[in-house]
Amino acid sequence: MKAAIINQFGSPKAFQIKDIEKPSYEKNQLLVKVKTVSINPIDWKQRKGNHKLILGSPFPIVLGYDICGIVEEVGEEIKQFKKGDSVFGVLDNKYGGALAEYAVGHEKCFAHKPGKINNEQAAAFPMVALTSLQALRDKANLQSGQTVLINGASGGVGHIAVQIAKLLGAKVIAVASTQSKEFVSQFNPDMYIDYKKQDVLKINQKVDVFFDVVGNSSFLKTKHLLNSGGVYVNTLPRPKILLHKLIQLFTKGKKVKTLLMKHNSEDIKLIAKWITEEKLDIKIDKTFSLEQISQAHEYAQQGHSKGKNIVVIGN
Ligand SMILES: NC(=O)c1ccc[n+]([C@@H]2O[C@H](COP(=O)([O-])OP(=O)(O)OC[C@H]3O[C@@H](n4cnc5c(N)ncnc54)[C@H](OP(=O)(O)O)[C@@H]3O)[C@@H](O)[C@H]2O)c1
Repeated sequence: MKAAIINQFGSPKAFQIKDIEKPSYEKNQLLVKVKTVSINPIDWKQRKGNHKLILGSPFPIVLGYDICGIVEEVGEEIKQFKKGDSVFGVLDNKYGGALAEYAVGHEKCFAHKPGKINNEQAAAFPMVALTSLQALRDKANLQSGQTVLINGASGGVGHIAVQIAKLLGAKVIAVASTQSKEFVSQFNPDMYIDYKKQDVLKINQKVDVFFDVVGNSSFLKTKHLLNSGGVYVNTLPRPKILLHKLIQLFTKGKKVKTLLMKHNSEDIKLIAKWITEEKLDIKIDKTFSLEQISQAHEYAQQGHSKGKNIVVIGN
């Protein structure tokens, strides 16, 4: 099968398009014929080698986690899917394996693709929607009527987090650049802060949740903005997290949390249900072919995408 592989960590130029063996699947896995893949920051971080101490260097590596495709084969223990089903989800292999004609993942990674969206949108949703849901609902325990600030509201995670926060009944303060104001306004945040014009740490407003999607702030820097019992949640483990956990003991119940997305069948099904009910919308920034994977990574890693970037593999 055709795949975008890397044989060394490095720049976007590290990609090569090669013929490699189709992956084999186990009794609790699906083999999926890939139609579309979306790019997440974890993909270009792993391409650079940022996770090699934990995941090793099993070259050739096929990167990519978010996919939409058609079930080609199912393992004997698979209950919810059959050959020919249209699915979307986040792969759970080391380094993913999505940027190829075929990919494998366990049953909990997938849900049936909602009919209302196209293949590009379906590949765009899974990781950012699961991250937003689990950060706001599970880590921050965001309640109806509370106020959440979303730092980085125009990116893949951010623009979905704005919508999920509103679905949970929260008031939303969205933070992004001047260039992103019109884009983010589509999702009706209650307030917009342009970080190029205003220092978000100096706003005259308290929040119950500070969702630091970009990860350029910290519990220490934001705790004065949190109401009593408020939560600072980010998506990147920080070296000073233990110190910050200690400091939280002296902050009237304020908390610091880090979200690492988990594969969860019920959560991906909930995302599919919200999409079907037209409660969630996703925006595609740019679309690339597999042969353009180097350009796709180059663009995505600049960190100013408006929504998601897609690689189309099959049709
Ligand atoms: N832990 C997990 O499980 C998990 C899961 C998913 C993602 N993540 C992490 O979450 C982060 C965001 O992911 P993403 O997919 O949303 O990335 P993305 O699509 O590249 O979006 C980044 C966004 O950040 C905004 N931004 C850049 N500088 C900013 C600043 N100084 N203040 C406020 N906003 C700023 C940009 O908006 P402007 O263009 O308007 O500047 C851009 O839209 C990444 O680090 C990723 O690795 C973690």
